[in-house]
Amino acid sequence: MSLLRSRTDPRWLDLARADLPAILADHAHCEKKAAASAVKLVAEHPDRPDLVRAVARLAQEELQHFLAVLAEMGRLGVALPPDTGDPYAQALLRCVRGGAGRLLDRLLAAALIEARSCERLALLAGALEEPRLRELYARLAQSEAGHERLFVELARRHGSGDVEARLAELAEEEARIVARLPLLPRIH
Ligand SMILES: [Fe+2]
Ligand SMILES: [Fe+2]
Repeated sequence: MSLLRSRTDPRWLDLARADLPAILADHAHCEKKAAASAVKLVAEHPDRPDLVRAVARLAQEELQHFLAVLAEMGRLGVALPPDTGDPYAQALLRCVRGGAGRLLDRLLAAALIEARSCERLALLAGALEEPRLRELYARLAQSEAGHERLFVELARRHGSGDVEARLAELAEEEARIVARLPLLPRIH
């Protein structure tokens, strides 16, 4: 069961299919940033060994995803442009509180980002024409769904405060952010 409170506008899929190079490039950057923020989380919580192990494994998977997307880009002759940032993730991460709520919020924000990625990768898996790409996106969507579950589990284990209430608030906020941002051929 996805954490998302809204579905992606169906027009997004048309934009994505019309500009596959832009989708692949943005997707590659998303995977790279997912790996980087996982490594950061590992570095900040040496006192939580189960979190360190699980998130380090996740970082490894995100780097494998990055390499898989780069390989498809190479095959299609698409170059990796500079990373122009991710306004969606930035907006969600601005909701992360400081102090005692910080770890809970970071884990829940990560779960929601995984959930949105999973939704959109699954849409691509169902709509792209090339079987190779359909297969890649189906595989990655499944992996991101696993990451979504993992971050929720870690939030329940390591977060302080009312986890379910905070999850509901952040999920509402995530849906508002998605509704506010322009529709573009990007993963978020
Ligand atoms: Fe990934
Ligand atoms: Fe992921």
